[in-house]
Amino acid sequence: MQDRQEELKSKLEVAKQAALQAGRYVREALGRVKHFSTKSSVTDLVTEVDRQSEALIKKLLRENFPGDRILGEEGGIEEPSVGGKEAQRADLWIIDPLDGTTNFVQGLPFFSISIALQRGGDIALGVVYDPNREEMFYAHRNFGSFLNDKPIRVSEQNNLQESLVCTGFPYNISPEEETLINIRNVAPRVRDLRALGSAALELAYVACGRLTGYWEWRLSPWDVAAGKLLVEEAGGCVTTCQGEPFSLSSPSILATNGKIHSDLVRLLSRRRK
Ligand code: IPD
Ligand code: CA
Ligand code: CA
Repeated sequence: MQDRQEELKSKLEVAKQAALQAGRYVREALGRVKHFSTKSSVTDLVTEVDRQSEALIKKLLRENFPGDRILGEEGGIEEPSVGGKEAQRADLWIIDPLDGTTNFVQGLPFFSISIALQRGGDIALGVVYDPNREEMFYAHRNFGSFLNDKPIRVSEQNNLQESLVCTGFPYNISPEEETLINIRNVAPRVRDLRALGSAALELAYVACGRLTGYWEWRLSPWDVAAGKLLVEEAGGCVTTCQGEPFSLSSPSILATNGKIHSDLVRLLSRRRK
């Protein structure tokens, strides 16, 4: 058991190094990237910086942990370079090499690097790095969440009227989208509403109390894997928008300080205003 925790600690240190290196690279490129292409829709952008950032992170992880699997947003799943049949049971790294590409392309300094480690179906480690503010958020299951090595906790607000909540917009949004119905129900009942444009960093902000709650629909595992653990280890609550148990394949995520969770579930479950 002791050995297992020590091993996870050393994996966490490498993940932090990888996020730091990739983050510095992405920050250096801010304002210099003129070319982008699109993926799932004309609003879903990707740049050479997303790909290079992923390559940097994978290289470091691969050098240190050749027996692990790696899932990157841009490159998909990579099987271990060693290990044969053991591969099925190997740890899985889940990477978003640049979360907030739309902000990045626009020169808006709000984006992050997200790296999580999944072991036996659970997220064991999570790292979200904001290179613009040099803020390193990380969590180790059962050992807490930290910001630049100081423990963090979710906020204390216990009612919606005093809560600052946040959401995001899926690519390819339609006029009937749940998000828009949700906003009509939530906005009039909270102190204010934000959409900051980096799911991983928004979850980190719930973990450290800068946001009271956050919800979003149709995200991918790399957007939320690290942030989910950050919120849970900081004393918060993570479910779907309907209040069901959250998994990386869930259609929605709701993360709060716990105190406003059931009130938000009630509002997010309403189909009309
Ligand atoms: C996006 C960001 C954004 C969210 C989008 C995500 P990307 O990730 O997290 O905040 O609203 O749905 O896809 O594409 O910048 O890595
Ligand atoms: Ca993302
Ligand atoms: Ca991304």
